[in-house]
Formats: sequence, C-alpha cells, structure tokens
Amino acid sequence: YDFSSWSAGLVCRAGERMVLERSQRIGLGLTGTKLGCAEGGCGACTVMLSKYQPHLSKVLHHSVNGCLAPLCSLHHCAVTTVEGIGSVAGKLHPVQERIAKSHGSQCGFCTPGIVMSLYALLRNNPTPRMADIEEAFQGKFGVKLVGLQHLGCKTNHKFSKPRTFWKIILQPYQLVSSCTSVLPAPLYNPADFLPLDPTQEIIFPPELMVDTLTHQHTRGGERVLWLQPASLDQLLELKTQYPNAKMVVGNTEVGIEMKFKNLLYPVILAPGYIPELNTIQHTDEGIVFGASCSLTLLGDVLKAAVGKLPLYQTEVFNAVLEQLRWFAGLQIRNVAAIGGNIMTASPISDLNPVFMAAGCKLTLMSKGGERVVVMDEKFFPGYRKTILTPEEVLLCVLIPYTKKGQHFAAYKQSPRREDDISIVTSGMSVTFAEGSTVVKHLALSYGGMAATTVMAKNTASRLLGKQWGEELLQDACSSLAEEMTLHPSAPGGMVTYRRTLTLSLFYKFYLTVQQKLAKGVRDDYISATEIYHQTSPSSVQIFQAVPDGQKEEDVVGRPMMHLSALKQATGEAVYCDDIPLYENELYLCLITSTKAHATIQSIDTAEAESMPGVVTCVFAKDIPGSNMTGPIVYDETVLADDTVTCVGHIIGAVVADTQAHAQRAAKAVRITYQELQPVIITIQDAITHQSFFQPVRTIQRGDLDQGFTQADHILEGEMHMGGQEHFYLETNVTVAVPKGEDGEMELFVSTQSATKTQALGVPASRVVIRVKRMGGGFGGKESRSTTLSTVVAVAAQKPVRCMLDRDEDMLVTGGRHPFYGRYKVGFMKSGKVVALEVTYYSNAGNSMDLSLSRALFHMENSYSIANIRGRGYVCKTHLPSNTAFRGFGGPQGMLIAESWMSDVALSLGLPAEQVRRLNMYIQGERTPYSQILDHITLDRCWDQCLEISSFTQRRAGIETYNRDHRWTKRGLSVVPTKFGISFTAAFLNQAGALAHIYTDGSVLLTHGGTEMGQGLNTKMVQVASRTLGIPSSKIHITETSTNTVPNTSPTAASASSDLNGAAVHNACEILLHRLEPYKTKNPKGCWEDWVNAAYFDRVNLSANGFYKTPDLGYDFETNTGRPFNYFSYGVACSEVEIDCLTGSHKNIHTSIVIDVGNSLNPALDIGQVEGGFMQGVGLYTLEELKYSPEGYLFTRGPGMYKIPAFGDIPTDLTVSLLRDAPNDKAIFSSKAIGEPPLFLAASVFFAIKDAIIAARKESGLSGPFRLDSPATPERIRNACEDRFTKLCPPAEPGTFTPWAVVV
Ligand SMILES: Cc1cc2nc3c(=O)[nH]c(=O)nc-3n(C[C@H](O)[C@H](O)[C@H](O)COP(=O)(O)OP(=O)(O)OC[C@H]3O[C@@H](n4cnc5c(N)ncnc54)[C@H](O)[C@@H]3O)c2cc1C
Ligand code: FES
Repeated sequence: YDFSSWSAGLVCRAGERMVLERSQRIGLGLTGTKLGCAEGGCGACTVMLSKYQPHLSKVLHHSVNGCLAPLCSLHHCAVTTVEGIGSVAGKLHPVQERIAKSHGSQCGFCTPGIVMSLYALLRNNPTPRMADIEEAFQGKFGVKLVGLQHLGCKTNHKFSKPRTFWKIILQPYQLVSSCTSVLPAPLYNPADFLPLDPTQEIIFPPELMVDTLTHQHTRGGERVLWLQPASLDQLLELKTQYPNAKMVVGNTEVGIEMKFKNLLYPVILAPGYIPELNTIQHTDEGIVFGASCSLTLLGDVLKAAVGKLPLYQTEVFNAVLEQLRWFAGLQIRNVAAIGGNIMTASPISDLNPVFMAAGCKLTLMSKGGERVVVMDEKFFPGYRKTILTPEEVLLCVLIPYTKKGQHFAAYKQSPRREDDISIVTSGMSVTFAEGSTVVKHLALSYGGMAATTVMAKNTASRLLGKQWGEELLQDACSSLAEEMTLHPSAPGGMVTYRRTLTLSLFYKFYLTVQQKLAKGVRDDYISATEIYHQTSPSSVQIFQAVPDGQKEEDVVGRPMMHLSALKQATGEAVYCDDIPLYENELYLCLITSTKAHATIQSIDTAEAESMPGVVTCVFAKDIPGSNMTGPIVYDETVLADDTVTCVGHIIGAVVADTQAHAQRAAKAVRITYQELQPVIITIQDAITHQSFFQPVRTIQRGDLDQGFTQADHILEGEMHMGGQEHFYLETNVTVAVPKGEDGEMELFVSTQSATKTQALGVPASRVVIRVKRMGGGFGGKESRSTTLSTVVAVAAQKPVRCMLDRDEDMLVTGGRHPFYGRYKVGFMKSGKVVALEVTYYSNAGNSMDLSLSRALFHMENSYSIANIRGRGYVCKTHLPSNTAFRGFGGPQGMLIAESWMSDVALSLGLPAEQVRRLNMYIQGERTPYSQILDHITLDRCWDQCLEISSFTQRRAGIETYNRDHRWTKRGLSVVPTKFGISFTAAFLNQAGALAHIYTDGSVLLTHGGTEMGQGLNTKMVQVASRTLGIPSSKIHITETSTNTVPNTSPTAASASSDLNGAAVHNACEILLHRLEPYKTKNPKGCWEDWVNAAYFDRVNLSANGFYKTPDLGYDFETNTGRPFNYFSYGVACSEVEIDCLTGSHKNIHTSIVIDVGNSLNPALDIGQVEGGFMQGVGLYTLEELKYSPEGYLFTRGPGMYKIPAFGDIPTDLTVSLLRDAPNDKAIFSSKAIGEPPLFLAASVFFAIKDAIIAARKESGLSGPFRLDSPATPERIRNACEDRFTKLCPPAEPGTFTPWAVVV
C-alpha cells in the first residue's frame, strides 16, 4: 500500500517508465492485471486507487489505468487489484462471479479490467444508474473479447423479457425481477449467485488517512529524478532550479510521450498534492479550478453548479460537460488534470477550444510572481507550445459564467463517439446586443484545423453587427470555407471532411441559437440541433431447449459456463506472460526496419551493446538452419538478410536482462539503408506494377457472354474495402526455455498453430510447444506468431521471453487483407441477376503467407447466379504480410457481392430486400464451384429474421422518421450469409485427441485445438462427458501441447469443434469400448468401479482419437470436387441512424437468426455470434489502418485505431439460434460458429448506405453511388452531399501527396 519504501528500487530496476501495472507484475508477481495497450486505451490494466480526501473527510475510490499510473505518484494511496477482491479457491466477489456465470468472459484477457471498473464504481456508488455503468465502461473493448454476453433466457420460441447483463451484474445492489420466474431455463440461474458479503470489501488502511504531504519526496531512477514537492513554494523553487523539468499530474500525456515518442524527461515535478493546485473557488465571475483538479472532479463540480444556477449562467459549464462526456474513458478522466489538458497544447484538445471561445482566465505563477492571462489565440504560439516561461506553472483556471444574451455550445467529432480523440472539435459563443439578435461578440474556436487550437477571427469580425439569420449563415459558411483551410497533405488527412465539419458544426450552432431565440426553426431541421443521448441497451437471446428427457448430467446442448471463466474473472487464469520468471531469464526486443523497400548497408550495434543489461544481439547470420520461412510457401525470412521489404520487417533482436533495457538498446541500434524502387504500397500501385503472387485463380460457371446478352440491364462498379487489425488483447508472446540436453526446448507460446511453431530447424521431436490459453487470436496467431517464436527460440541460450508491445505487434504482424473489387453485373427488370463478372485484388503485403482465394468462394454470397466468373489477384506489396483473419477473404468477397446487389436495387428503384430475396439460393442449387446446396436453411433464417425484427413496421417507421428529419436519417437493411466450413487446403481437415483415464476415475483430455476464448476446451469436455457418460467435472484439459497430440492443424477455419470434437469422440469411444466388459460384468457399479476393474485387468486406459473430414478436395483447374463439408447460414437485419452533418452513426437495432445446427453450447455459440458480429461492425464501420505513402503505419494502438467499444453495440440486439436444424455432418449434429456471424455486420453497413440514400434524396440525388468500407463518419459525411460539402471541394488527385493512402 505505501509505495515509498520500495518504489525507488523498482524504478531503478525497471527504468524510468515504472508504472503501476509493471510494478505489480515484476515487483509483486501479481499478474491478474493485464497489459493490452500501455496507452490507456483498452482498460485491461484497470485497478482501483483509493485515496483519503481530507477536505471531504472521506476515502474516494477511482478506477485508473495501471499502465499509465507512475509508481512514484502513489504515495498515500491504496491500490486494489483483481486479486484483492476475490478468488476461486477463497471467495469470489459478486462482480467476479456474475461476470463469469452470466457468460461475460471469453478469452478473459480484459476481464480483470472490466471487473475492476465495475468494482470501483460500486465502491463509490452501490446503487448506480444504468448511465453510471455505461460511463464506467466507456471506450473499453469488452465487445470483442468479453463477448458481450447480455443476459437472455432460453425459450421455446417465446421472447424473453429484454434485460441486460449489467443489471444482472448489479443484482446484489439493485433488485431486478428474476429471469427464472418468467421462463423455465435461462442462460444461467441468478438464484445461484452468492449474496454480497460487505465484510469481504477491503478496508482502506487507516495509516494512509493523512491530511497532506509533510515534506518533499525524492526518488531517483536510472535516468529520471522524481520530485514531489509538498507546497507551492517548494514547487516554484524547484521550477526555478529545474526550469526544464516536466510537470506530471495524471501522466496521461507525459506517459504516452515517454513510452511511444521515446522522449526522456530527466527531472519530473509531481505537483499532485499541492493544495493550491487542487482547490476550487466559486467567484462572481465563475468557478476557479486548481490546475491539478482531475477532469472527473471538474465534471462533478460543474454538474452541481448547473443544478443550482440559472440556465443562462451555465452555458459554458454545459458545453464543458458535453465535451467531458466524450473525453477519453473514465479511468483517464479520474486522473487527468484540467491543467494537463491545457498545457499539453494539443491541437486536438477537447477543452481548449471551449476555454478559448469562453475567454477563460489562467493564473500563471513563478517564484517572481503571478500574472493572469486570457486564454485566446495568442496563448498557443506554436505546435504544442504555450506562452508560459520555463519557470512558470499554471496555478488555476477560471471558467466564466455566461451572461444574459450570450449563447454557447461545444462540439466534438471523432471517428468513434466514445473515448476517442477528435477529428475536429469546437467551442462557439455569440453575444447579442441587448434586446436584439444583432451580433455584438462572436468567438469561434476550432481544434483539428491547424497546428494549434485556432479562432476564426476573420469570420467572427465579418459577422459583427449582423442579424442572426439566413444571410449571416451564408456569409459565415463562405467565410469559414475560406478561413478554415487545410493543405491537402495536412497531417491527419481527411482534409475535405475536416473543412466541411467546420461549416456543419457552425450550422448546428446557428440552428441551436435560432431555436433558443424561438426563431421558428423548421420542425425537420431541429434534428441538426439534437444532442446525442444514449438509450439503455437491451438484448434478447433465443435458443432451443435440450429435448425433454435429456439426462441432467448430459451437458451437450446446455449453456455451460466457459470452464476458465471464474479464473479469468479473478485474474488467476494463467496466460503466457503470467508464467513466473525463470532464474536468469532474459528479455528480447525486436529490431525492425524503418524503410519499406531497401537494402541494408550496415548495422551498428556498438552503442546498444554497451548499454546496461544488454547480453547479445541476434541477426540473420545467427540462425543455425534456414532463414526462410512461411506457412505454405517459404518466401519470407525469419530475420531480414540483406533486403527489407516493409516497414516493420524484423531485422534482428536485442536480448537484455529486463524489458526496459532490451527496448532501450533496440532503439540504439543504428542501421543504414539504400532505398530501392519501386515502393509498392497500395493495390493500385500493385496493379500499375503488375505485382502479383501466382497463381491468379479463377472460378467460372455458365456462359457469361450469353448471360450478359440475356440481361435487360448491365451495370459496372467498384469498391474498396479496408483491412483490419486483429487486436487480440493479448499481443504475441513467447517464452523459450532451453532444456540443456540434445537441443531440447520448451516453448510457451500464444499461438493458434502449435505444430507450425515447431519449425525451428531442429527435429520437431525435441521441441515441445505448450499453449494453455490465448487472450484472443482471430487468425492473427495462425501463422504470424511463428516468426516471433522462432526469433525468441534462436536467442534462447537461457530462458528468453518476449511479449510484444501493442505498437510493435501492430507494426510487424499484418492483419486482414484490404480488397478492391471491380464488377460487371447483368440483371433483368425484376432484379434477377443473370450474369456476374467480378475481379478481386487483395493486398497481401510482402509475402504469400495464407493469402488464398477464399473470397472467390464467396463472390456470389447467398445468391444463385447462372453465369458467373470471378478472378482473384493477390497483390505483392511492401507492407507487412497480411494473413488469416476470421472469415479469411469471405467477409471481403461477400461485401463486394452485396455492393453490386445494392447497385442493382438502386438502379431499378426496387427495395434492396426484394432483390436479395429474389436472388437467394434454394435447396439443391449449385454454387459457382459446383457444390450442391443441400439442407439449406437460408429461407428459414430470412423469414424469421424479418419476423423478429418487425421488418415491415420498422421500414414504415423509418419512412416517417426520414420525412420528419432533414439532418438525421435512418436506414434499414437485411443481409444473408452463407459460409462454407472446412479448410480449403484439404489436408488440414484432420485432428487428433488423447484421453487418459486415471484410476481415481478422473480423465485428462488433450486435443489438437487451442483455446483462445472461443470455449473450445469447454465444448470438448462436453463432448467427452456425453460420450463417456460421466459428469463434466471428472474431465480436465490442461493445455495443448505437441508432445501429446502431434501434427495439429491450426485452430482456424471455424472447424476446430467439428474436427477436434470428432477426434475426442473417437478417443472416448475407444476407451468406452475397452471398459464395456467391466460395465457388463458389473452393471450396478459406477464409473470408478469399471475403471478400477479394467486397470487391475491390465487394460490400457489411454487412447488416441483421430478424425478426418470425408470427401473433401476441390480442383480449381477443373472446377470439380467439394471444397466444403457443409455450409452455415444466417441472416441479420439492422437499423441505424446517421447524422448527415457530422457523419456519425448510431446502431439502433440488430436482429440475427443463425443456423448453428444443434448447438453444443448455446451460451458459447451466442457469445461467438455477438462477438463475431461486433468484430464485423468494427470492420465495416470503424476500423481504419492508416499508412503513409511510404508504407509507415500510423495506427499502432487504440489511440488511433478504434475497435468497437461498449457504446457501439446496437441498442437493441436480438440473437436467435435457428431451431430444429440438425447438421448430420458434424459432431452431435452441431455446426461451426467462429467465422460465419462476422459478415452479418454488413447489415449495418448497408443500413448506413440506406440512410445515406435518404439524405442524398434531399439533395436531389438518386441511383447507385460508391461507398467504400469502412463506412466511417468521413465517408458518410462526404456521401451526404449538400450545400456545405459543395463549399469544400476535394483537391484534384495527383496534385498533392496525401498524408495517408488507401492501401
Ligand atoms: C487514452 C487517452 C485518451 C485521451 N483522450 C483525450 C480526449 O478525448 N480529449 C483530449 O483533449 N485529450 C485526451 N487525452 C489527452 C490527455 O489525457 C489530456 O490532455 C489530459 O488532460 C492531460 O492531463 P494529465 O494530468 O494526465 O497530464 P500530464 O501528462 O500529467 O501532463 C501533461 C502536460 O501538462 C503539463 N502540466 C501539467 N500540469 C501543469 C501545470 N500546473 N503547470 C504547467 N504545466 C503543467 C505537463 O508538464 C505536461 O507537459 C487522452 C489521453 C489518453 C492517454
Ligand atoms: S493496458 Fe492500460 S489501458 Fe490498455
């Protein structure tokens, strides 16, 4: 608790960036808290910080990011980690128990963070409102990894009452009506939950209840001196002594600079405890906040003032509150200071535009005295500069009351609404001459439009003395379009969009003021002024009950909890980096290329090798065997030899005693390059240079010429679809342990491909790969994990560990392939498509990896097209190699299919759903690759989806809504999917299993699949339990390892339950067969009796199981054979609302009906459907990888790369597993579930397109138009053409070098 005694030692050992999360792990061995990003963006590291507040005489508890909280700053604080609140062996905390039992944990890597966010909330507020809970989770990535298991109830086709996961989590605190009382068998039974035991809560240590710091604290690290003054005088004295010292309060900016921008601040001043910097004063002018006041406190005080003061006085306060709603996440706001935001001087600060437009006053102080300045355009003289002298500090900020006749508003536009940095942010203030609407004073301040926060001075002065009316609006817009310009190459890109936003936001302000003045704003225009309000989410899950009479202990088909869920919720589940340090263990850090295409001229390691703790450097020459590698074709190097072919190409590695030392030394390795031409980054570059991997694949059926001749209409189109980062929360990690004999080595790896990891150039029999669990994989750890594990193994003369930082992982590992598709489609007047020619280009990066032609198998999605030809080019570019990712080309192929489908409907003026339904496959039809579709359930999924989404009523409601709203529009779409199940490489469709029965009757099971959160181990235990006829509690799975089941296929292609389930079944059947005589002999005996009898009879109680999928194999040349074992089907319907002025959208509703056969475990399957769907929402609407024209990746962490957060989940979400759809081709009639649901998120994309169509209609536009994926706010806004977009035309392509290119 009191860190003063040992923090200095830790700082020395682990370097100047010693933050709480690292200290827990390294110093205390507390590994429950996880590291997902190290930049405050994911919440995995959340812990609770408790601090006594003398002025309130109470202890306040806050959730904070352990990855940013400097250890030195925690004096007088109590820290509670997930380990502190409960354990599986001891007593679970109700939050832990509920999150696990209500299926809220999948891979579990972020679960401790989610648990602690909620725990901290409940410690402060035992009866929170829904809004408080949503706030606690703002911006966190529960969606992808927790799996968003809203509570639902199993019904026999009755809907459960919508209720949410959060309510159940809160049950000890708020009473909710019991699910079980309404319906017979819920996804879990709330009655099982333990009641809250208040004595379990940790008590704040009384010795920490101290008033304030009594003396200055000093801590010296290897390179940093940390000074914590106890008084203002001491601070000013120190600032005179060390004028260049960095002040640190919340460390949410400085921490990022030190970690990611490689900046070093040798002296740090921490003024967090100085009373004058923490006081709040109410004055006649406004409220004065000490510069160290946290943003949470700022919000609390302003909220209280808004509640008390007259409305006209609090317009600025309300604007600040509105900005704070979307400012970072709660963990950041709990520590980040108001002064920190101002002094960072970021051009995209959210508060500075408000403070500038409001004319806030800042008190600056040095030893020489104090001065008060108004925060105006002179305050920021340059990029990240302020007018403070080096000796000065910011003491406090006065936020003024607004006056009568003054109107104020603030706006923020970011890629994602929650917890995201701004694209453009703004504060606007107008004051009218008394009794009139003539402008007396106008202040328009913008962030995101220059290197500093700027004021539109010209526009403001031009509008002075004018009436607030249409003429002023026109003047304002044309003036802003002239004044708020950006160079087309401006950093941050999105130039046209940013310029349009300055006008659009002003228009919102204009109408808002008009409305306040009661100046008769048209009813349908009011939509431009509405402030976003979150509606509390609700969800329903529907699945089929197990048949009457199924034995209680037969768990197949029941919603059994993920077997590791409890351990994941308590932080006890062991991930790779949680393995305790080995003695003499070393750490490895990669050295990567900074050039996209170059030869390496020289590598100088002298400086790096002289640095503290460095042991060795490893390069290509140190690899004992072949340096060539690749999952299928050996076309890439483990470590670059003389040529690099992408930024991020791994050149070598530094091995040192600690992570900090290895990372620091890696940055000191000097490499010189000779750059080479061409540099091919984009698909268009590859087309220009004809840079393709071979072969170019084609699938063709029917007679295309005849099809086009027969067609009433022909249209052509194109579409680009961006790639996607896997963003598994646990980055790639390997611990390599040499055994010291015969080249034996044990590798603990976070990989989906244990067998591939053995390829180290030594016999596979000497290398054991062990995988206990992964914190997510999504395909990203299928082939790309092997490069890191090989490098670590090569360096491992002693145990060596490497867990990539998020930015390193994003840089080196590649992701989903970006795609570009061109199509020509022939169709009849009815909408029936009769001919399709489509060409796909995928950006594979610098190696072939697994860039196969899966998209071609999805070119028709779910539609029957008689005459069809698809061709797939795999582009070779100078980007890191792209790789497998959930759906693997399918989501790209199908999105492009839906694009031409949408074009056909638009060009005929027919409802898209009508055209889709008309073209949908029916039973017995053939795919373009000649596979007959039997047992097709598409039509049932479609009809049920329309029914449960109330499609017809919804469509009617949307039409009315769109008539009544000019500036917001709603859209609706229903989209089907058909997904073939099997590896397309036939040999991979095999699996093994090993089952041991011990004499006490317990069973140890192993299989070839890996557990990455999807619940594979749970399903395998369910399969073994039913087969052996014993309770699941007798069966245990420890890990996946290559010495138990060899030659495993990767856990991929959605096929792992099918393949490994059948292998497990086979192993168990063999054992059962061996036990049969003893059962027959002793029918009244129990399992243990039979096992013992067999043992004493010397029967082998260990068996291998094996399975291979029959009748598989497809030949591209002849277009014959079966590529897939069977197909999964599903349909989704989504409704969205877009803001036509900003391009934001909200996901209002989604209904999904999906065929999973007879579900092995409905809770896990629904988790996969919801998680996959939300990952698709990220793919199609949010996630954007930004590369410079030179191939440098800008988006290397959650700060710039946004995946869906809790707030992106459709407010109203229904998932229904199709009933009565047994599948005779997989274990116990089940179906695969991993990949198929992802594409259903395309329904959101096309709902957005539908809303854009409505917006374009207002401007007289109709017919097909191109909308690329993802449908980001930028793309949505640009597509909603109107009077404002016309004022900001894009620069002519080719006349400038853009900041980022579409790859
Ligand atoms: C995940 C994440 C999300 C974020 N989201 C947003 C967002 O939505 N909007 C936004 O605007 N910003 C955002 N930020 C940026 C940052 O959180 C804010 O700027 C924050 O207010 C900084 O406060 P701090 O106390 O943590 O600053 P620190 O990092 O402690 O310090 C920042 C700077 O302020 C200086 N400083 C601090 N106090 C004083 C003082 N009294 N006198 C002189 N100099 C001083 C420091 O020397 C330093 O240069 C985000 C940051 C992160 C990590
Ligand atoms: S690891 Fe701290 S927020 Fe991601």
